[in-house]
Amino acid sequence: MKAVSATIILSIFITCCIGSLSWAESLQSIQLVPPDTNSGIPLMKALNHRMSTKAFAAKTIPLEKLSNLLWAAFGINRKDSGNRTVATAMNCQDTDIYVVLKKGVYVYKAKEHTLVPVLDQDVRSLAATQEYAQVAPINLIYVSDYAKIADRFQAKKPSYAAFHAGAISQNVYLYCAFEGLGTVVRDSVDRTKLRDVLKLRKDQVIVMGQSVGYPQQAPTQ
Ligand SMILES: Cc1cc2nc3c(=O)[nH]c(=O)nc-3n(C[C@H](O)[C@H](O)[C@H](O)COP(=O)(O)O)c2cc1C
Repeated sequence: MKAVSATIILSIFITCCIGSLSWAESLQSIQLVPPDTNSGIPLMKALNHRMSTKAFAAKTIPLEKLSNLLWAAFGINRKDSGNRTVATAMNCQDTDIYVVLKKGVYVYKAKEHTLVPVLDQDVRSLAATQEYAQVAPINLIYVSDYAKIADRFQAKKPSYAAFHAGAISQNVYLYCAFEGLGTVVRDSVDRTKLRDVLKLRKDQVIVMGQSVGYPQQAPTQ
């Protein structure tokens, strides 16, 4: 009996090892393209085009646009200080952007301007509980790491986190307005299941989701 149990435990162990090996191999880091900071449209025009899209085409977005999008969202715009495109309380830079694609989930590393793999699983139905948003090729999940906000501001952590995610999402809205992409910021995220599969720590909080993709119909502007 003991020998049988030991064999079962060993097989589970081997399966887990093989599983994690194939996980590591299946998703690679993605080096993003440096941002094109000379492109764009006048700010007033972008603001005039800002809108939420609620019908997406499944068409994928080229790497160059994804790169610009993430840089605009919360990239580093001053190399010497490492400061970002969004102001954060005490420069705490608590927000991590998880990028949910059909093939899996990555996290944006601003310093390296790279996407690092987190999970090789299609979790779009958790990142977006509304069907129209599951079609979008990109779903961004804004996760605040409360550990990065000083504990003396404990009571303010939720408002700081919301404020930072809000500013990031507006950058995404403006970038999308410039590129003719559709976007919508969403509360409709299955936070409980998503935090589980992403294995978030207790002090990592899912603030909001934002879908990005080509609109099913071109905006009439
Ligand atoms: C905090 C917040 C939460 C939102 N949550 C959702 C959501 O869960 N699902 C959705 O379809 N739209 C959501 N929206 C988008 C709003 O429906 C949209 O912004 C609103 O209808 C105004 O449209 P506009 O952005 O085009 O001006 C949310 C917007 C905000 C600011």
